[in-house]
Amino acid sequence: MKEQLEQIKGSALAAIAGAETEQALEEVRVRFLGKKGELTAILRGMGAVAPEDRPKIGAMVNTIRAEIEESLSARFGDLKAQSMERKLREERIDVTMPAPEKKVGKLHPITQTSNRMVEIFTGMGFEIAEGPEVESTYFNFDALNAPADHPSRDDTDTFYFSENVLLRTQTSPVQIRSMEGKIPPIRMISPGRVYRSDVADATHSPMFHQCEGLVIDKGITMGDLKGTLATFAKAMFGERTRIRFRPHNFPFTEPSAEVDVSCFVCGGKGCRLCKGEGWIEILGAGMVHPNVLRAGGIDPDVYSGFAFGMGIERVAMTMFGINDLRLMCENDARFLEQF
Ligand code: DAH
Repeated sequence: MKEQLEQIKGSALAAIAGAETEQALEEVRVRFLGKKGELTAILRGMGAVAPEDRPKIGAMVNTIRAEIEESLSARFGDLKAQSMERKLREERIDVTMPAPEKKVGKLHPITQTSNRMVEIFTGMGFEIAEGPEVESTYFNFDALNAPADHPSRDDTDTFYFSENVLLRTQTSPVQIRSMEGKIPPIRMISPGRVYRSDVADATHSPMFHQCEGLVIDKGITMGDLKGTLATFAKAMFGERTRIRFRPHNFPFTEPSAEVDVSCFVCGGKGCRLCKGEGWIEILGAGMVHPNVLRAGGIDPDVYSGFAFGMGIERVAMTMFGINDLRLMCENDARFLEQF
C-alpha cells in the first residue's frame, strides 16, 4: 500500500510538472484528486485494509494529498503568470501608431441654421412655440384671414387628409395657437416643417422649414418690426447687413412686406450669390391683421402686433452656398460633411 501511494505521488508530481496549460493542469487535478481520482480510490478501498493499519494509511493519504495540492497550486500560479505575460506581449500597444480617425457627426445645415435663428431670437426675449404639422383648415387658413378663394387653399397646392384636415402649408397657424387663451405681451418664434404639393426641383420641395415670429403688445408698430428684423439680420448675416422692405400682400398682415437683406458677399454691389441684385429675399412680414387678432381672442383696439415668416432652407442655402434644395434631403454624408 505504501509503495502504491508513493507511486501515485510520484506520477502526480511528474504530471503536474509536465502540464503546460491551466486546462491540462486541471485535468491532472481531476485525475488524482477528483471524485474518481486515483488517490480517492485508495480512500475508498480502506475497507480492505486491516483496522489497525487504517490510521497510518489515512495519515499517509492526507500527507500526499496535501503535497499534491501544494504542487498543483504552485504550478497553477506559474502557468497563470506565464499566460498573463504572453497576453501582455501579444496585446502590446504601439503608442507610436497614428490614432484611428474619429468620425464626429455634424448637425444638418437646416438644423444649424434653425438653431442659430432660435439663439438670436431667444436672445431678444422671444419664446419658442410649437404647433402640429397635421393642422385644421381653421388654423391654417380661416383664422389667418385667408379668403375662401385663396389659391393656397387649392388641393393642387395643399396636402389634404380630409376637407378640414391638412398638412400645414406654413408655420403661421402657430400665431393663432399662441394667442388663444393668452394675455399679451406675446413674443414667440416657431421653427418647424411645412408641406406643399410641389414637385421637387432645385428650389422647391414638398416639405421644407419655416420660422414664424409673432410679437403682440400695446403700441407695437412697424418700427418695432423693422428694428427687430434689422437686429436679427446683423446677428445672422454680419454687422454690416442692411434690410429692405418691399410692399407685398399677405392675408394675415396689413400692411405686408417682403423683406430682403443686403448681400453679405458683395455688400449690395451685386454678385453671383445675389444674382446681381445686391439683395436677397429672406422673409415675409407685416402688422398683424385685426381679423387675425380677433380670431386669436385679442382686442385689436387695445393691442397691435407684427409677424414674420422666414424660409429656413432659403437662409441656409444662401449662407452655405448650396444651389440645389434636393441635396438637403438626400442624406449623402459627402454633402453633409461640408458644413
Ligand atoms: N406664411 C407666409 C408664407 O408661407 C410667410 C409669412 C408672411 C408669415 C408674412 C408671416 C407674415 O407671419 O407676416 O409664405
